[in-house]
Amino acid sequence: MNIAKVPESVGKEIEIKGWIWRKRESKNIIFIILRDADGIAQFTVKEDQPFFKDALEVTMESSVIMKGVVHKDERSPSGYEIKTTSLEIVQTAERYPITKDQSTEFLLDVRHLWLRSRNMTAIMKIRSTVVGAIHEFFRGRGYIEFDPPIFQPSQCEGGSTLFEVKYFDKKVYLTQSWQLYAEAAVFALEKVYDMSPTFRAEKSKTTRHLSEFWMAEMEAAWMKLDEVTEVAKDEIRFIIKEVLKKNKPELEILGRDIKKLEHYSKAEYPTIKYREALKIINEKYGMNVRWGKDLRTLEEAKIADHFGVPVIVTHYPTEIMGFYKPPSKENPEEALCFDMIAPEGYCEIVGGSERSLDVKDMEKRLKADGEDPGSYEWYFDLRKYGSVPHSGYGMGVERVVAWLCGLDSIRDAIAFPRNMIRFKP
Ligand code: 4AD
Ligand code: MG
Repeated sequence: MNIAKVPESVGKEIEIKGWIWRKRESKNIIFIILRDADGIAQFTVKEDQPFFKDALEVTMESSVIMKGVVHKDERSPSGYEIKTTSLEIVQTAERYPITKDQSTEFLLDVRHLWLRSRNMTAIMKIRSTVVGAIHEFFRGRGYIEFDPPIFQPSQCEGGSTLFEVKYFDKKVYLTQSWQLYAEAAVFALEKVYDMSPTFRAEKSKTTRHLSEFWMAEMEAAWMKLDEVTEVAKDEIRFIIKEVLKKNKPELEILGRDIKKLEHYSKAEYPTIKYREALKIINEKYGMNVRWGKDLRTLEEAKIADHFGVPVIVTHYPTEIMGFYKPPSKENPEEALCFDMIAPEGYCEIVGGSERSLDVKDMEKRLKADGEDPGSYEWYFDLRKYGSVPHSGYGMGVERVVAWLCGLDSIRDAIAFPRNMIRFKP
């Protein structure tokens, strides 16, 4: 049995397999807080019981099988107390290295053990809900899951963050995005999605960047910017609803403001153009950001603050956008692209665009970035054989998890984080 079943077992004898989480001794009694995947439960052992000595000596994080009879008890943290009838120690744990008040760095060094903490356990459960919700959202709308190659011959999101890999006697790169391959797939499947590991050699140590992260992407034939931005809004609202449905106890463990999430799950999210975003940050917040500058975290945070909900910003300056983001016909200075910016300082969580259909323009922009357009011949073929308008976006899974959980750093949104300075354990 697992701990979630304790409340429905009052008066019955139950057996739980778990780990010693905390212990407290009082005069003739030992309180053992047992932990399993569901949560924690309080057991009591009395002095006259044959396993009292074992209970006294059993160490933190030892694995045990405990039996006992469930009673209602207001004094216990969970409202129930289990009077122990047997205690079997499966393995006596060595002195556990994690104690109170340890540094973030130390906890990262012992991440393999820190995963058992209540916070990490709660985050991992919420992450699982987020991942499940993404699959459900797209499949429910008729999207086909399509898996990309991870080894790729060229860049998608700029050469400076590529991870190079020795590939027999050649070199290839770890994927920065599934997008270019998804663009090939839409000519067969029309609507595709995927969630896969993504790699970027980010040289900054921010609370928002990992070098290995999971991106959930979608791509759809015939779709234009106004429609794809609505899909992104619906996806985010759907994910939040699922988390609220399944993870209220975990959100409480993390101290997350549930009211805020409820609001985000129902609210309308505004769509504004980059030039309107500049107006807001310059006029309302007294900043001085000129046309042609990409928005930094600082500026994104102000825009989301202004609205108090996720905001879609479209039409960034073409000159600072990737080669595949097409200039708008009416105003070629502006690209048909968008970012979704989350409130509470979490900033960009989604990036996407319509895709350029103009091979000449893409060749020119790749050359300007020092790339060899020759490596994109296969991609340009897609514009030669039945080309259609199409759009897509990528969502950073860890960015969304960090936001929904209210985390200080993206590092805790993934079990074993990798960034510029860490790739262990
Ligand atoms: O904005 P990005 O770079 O967009 C693309 O890669 C497009 N090719 C996606 C597409 O259109 N199919 O990345 C998409 C999202 C970002 O909004 C962010 O949430 C996340 O991926 N992301 C990162 N998350 C963690 N660590 C990093 N280093 C990230 N870089 C991007
Ligand atoms: Mg981006």
